[in-house]
Amino acid sequence: MLRPWLIRPARPHDAGALGAIYDEGVRSGVATFATGAHDEAERRRWLAARSARAPVFCGEAHGRVVAWSALAPLSHREWYDGVAEYTVYVTSSARGRGLGRQMLDHLLETAPTRGYWKLVGMIMVDNRAALALARTAGFRVVGAHRAHARVAGRWRDVAIVERHLDPGVAGEANLPS
Ligand SMILES: CC(C)(COP(=O)(O)OP(=O)(O)OC[C@H]1O[C@@H](n2cnc3c(N)ncnc32)[C@H](O)[C@@H]1OP(=O)(O)O)[C@@H](O)C(=O)NCCC(=O)NCCS
Repeated sequence: MLRPWLIRPARPHDAGALGAIYDEGVRSGVATFATGAHDEAERRRWLAARSARAPVFCGEAHGRVVAWSALAPLSHREWYDGVAEYTVYVTSSARGRGLGRQMLDHLLETAPTRGYWKLVGMIMVDNRAALALARTAGFRVVGAHRAHARVAGRWRDVAIVERHLDPGVAGEANLPS
């Protein structure tokens, strides 16, 4: 049994474990458009470049890193300062047991302490698990960008999900018809 899980800030020596979990997502073909394996040195540089506004967390079970999550500013424009893109990766052997949800709930709790007012996810439309996770965590599907990325010569559609962290902000945006 994997539980109990511990969620804690990532440390430099987690780089290898994080990279291995990321590479599982790369191989799935639906988690990220990135291709190729990522070595530990590359992941170390990536971790070292993160700031308080772009934190990375590890999900640990019995001393083993089985998941990671991250926040990053969505835009450099100051009026979008409070909008973060989120990422959650769970190793395949630990999926389907609620850990992804726990990692995302933790990001939702952490985000306001890092100055964010909204989380946004960009998810390939064929990533059923990520869309299900977002929906169950209270995100709304804003819509999907058609042919937004071109990977290996193939157009890919990308869904956008969002959750505002102010409970007073609800519903859809007002668009003129
Ligand atoms: C997306 C991901 C993080 C989900 O993690 P997980 O630990 O399996 O998710 P949970 O067990 O917490 O499940 C969360 C919800 O998603 C649903 N779900 C999970 N996997 C699913 C799947 N393959 N198909 C349909 N629904 C799925 C669960 O039933 C649950 O819904 P519920 O609360 O209504 O029962 C995991 O599949 C993963 O790491 N995928 C690769 C990386 C990725 O795509 N990340 C998303 C980019 S941000």
